[in-house]
Amino acid sequence: MIEDRWYKNAVIYSLSLDSFLDTDGDGIGDFPGLNARLDYLQGLGITAIWLMPFHPSPRRDHGYDVADYYGVDPRFGSLGDFVEFTAACSQRGIRVMMDLVLNHTSDQHPWFQQAIADKNSKYRDYYIWADKKPEDADTGMVFPGVQKTTWSYSRRAQAYYYHKFFEFQPDLNIANAQVQDEMLKIVGFWLELGVSGFRMDAVPFLIAADGINAADPDPAFHFLRRLRDFAQWKKGDAVLLAEANIPPQDCLKYFGDAGDRLHMMFNFPVNQTLFYALAAGESRPLKEKLEASRGIPETAQWAHFLRNHDELDIGRLPDEQRQAVFDAFGPEPDMQLYGRGIRRRLAPMLGGDRRKLELAYSLMLTMPGTPVIRYGDEIAMGDDLDLPERQAARTPMQWSGERNGGFTSSDQPVRPVIDQGPYGYRKINVAMQRADPDSFLNWTERMLRLRKELTEIGRGSFSILDLPDHLLAMCYEHQGRASVFVHNLSDRRTDVCLDPLPGECESGRALVCLQTNHAVPQDEEGRYDLVLEPYGFRWFRLGGLEDMLQGDGSPAATAAA
Ligand code: NOJ
Repeated sequence: MIEDRWYKNAVIYSLSLDSFLDTDGDGIGDFPGLNARLDYLQGLGITAIWLMPFHPSPRRDHGYDVADYYGVDPRFGSLGDFVEFTAACSQRGIRVMMDLVLNHTSDQHPWFQQAIADKNSKYRDYYIWADKKPEDADTGMVFPGVQKTTWSYSRRAQAYYYHKFFEFQPDLNIANAQVQDEMLKIVGFWLELGVSGFRMDAVPFLIAADGINAADPDPAFHFLRRLRDFAQWKKGDAVLLAEANIPPQDCLKYFGDAGDRLHMMFNFPVNQTLFYALAAGESRPLKEKLEASRGIPETAQWAHFLRNHDELDIGRLPDEQRQAVFDAFGPEPDMQLYGRGIRRRLAPMLGGDRRKLELAYSLMLTMPGTPVIRYGDEIAMGDDLDLPERQAARTPMQWSGERNGGFTSSDQPVRPVIDQGPYGYRKINVAMQRADPDSFLNWTERMLRLRKELTEIGRGSFSILDLPDHLLAMCYEHQGRASVFVHNLSDRRTDVCLDPLPGECESGRALVCLQTNHAVPQDEEGRYDLVLEPYGFRWFRLGGLEDMLQGDGSPAATAAA
């Protein structure tokens, strides 16, 4: 059977318009800028773009404070530009996923404005109110240290309103049927305009019982099913990808036992333990989290990532492990955020060490699921710790050695371009790295090409080989295809002995190293002896490239059909 669930073998690239490329000289990236770089992205080998919020918004939280769900912030362009963008993506076989922020609106949204102006307005019940400040109002803040409370007083409304996030982001009342209908309408609108799916913001809070006084959270979970049903009715291949930083045992509820709720979820537990593995050179907790990720429905898929636009959240690691990650990657108080995270980009966290960067990427690309990369990480961009909070890792894309890194001609970029030190745009930029076959950019491009050909990672089943804790070796199988990925997390050169792969002996195919294209010699028992360099890794495929080039007919291997 040809499997054409595109999200099972996609490579997703996340970007925020404001920091990508500015074409009109106002210092803010825009749709024409993004359109101008689609060929670059296609060349890099990504198959889908996750576009961060671009709606009209006061942008007090990077656009996660939406003031009009149906519009485009004029600083980025028009609705027409948006449709040109989706059409241009479609021409290139690139899918578009957009952020869907349904947990809350901006306090400037007309619904909230009407809700506070008129107690009898139908919009009043779109939000969550209390006459008296609830006793737990000063607990459960998502941004501790910056956010003071979860219930704020509106003088105009003469009541307290609930906000899981900042006070300018009032939570919508999902218990109200009209609110649910509004949400579906928004989804339908953007699907009609050419998107293939949504990155759903803050899903645990969207469906949480707190604030809506519902003893039973199940109705909210049912909403996820309704949403999926609706989205797929509108567009058969639409995909919902949830941001939900929750413990592994809760994830099934989000996917739905029958695979009838969300298609994809970011795997936060694996993300956090992967950083612990890098920090401590120890794979045991990562193996445990990988084991805990099994057993999801056939149509469900994990999304794996290294860094995103927020802090690296290590809040769910046991204390000792969290401390090890802080010590290794964010030792200074200034590098840490909200008591649980690190606000740096990947490259500076890893000390700019190319071996560690490649190891981190190799690990992420071979996790069971779909990889998500973040703009700028393909050239190993740095951060600017002088910027407040999460903005440190949101500096403009560095395209060239020209003024402002080629991002804008304005003297006032939306955020400062990094211009000093080893991560300054004169040293780290796309133009330079394109010209250098050994650059991180060209390395990433080669790895993405391989990754897409290895469809068994996204579609198949995995086993973890029994090796010492400084190593992680995973084997994948799918419809006769098999591969193995071996990583050395330590700073020591190490010997590795691998057993033959399942199915190998019967097929008579050799195990081929994909980096060198050489078959690996076997001993008398059919085992392989390898040596891995410090932080080294190797990717192997049964039958090697020959096998791979035949493809398995699934469209995602060559981007969307
Ligand atoms: C999660 C987003 O990733 C984050 O950037 C945002 O601040 C919150 N949700 C609130 O929307």
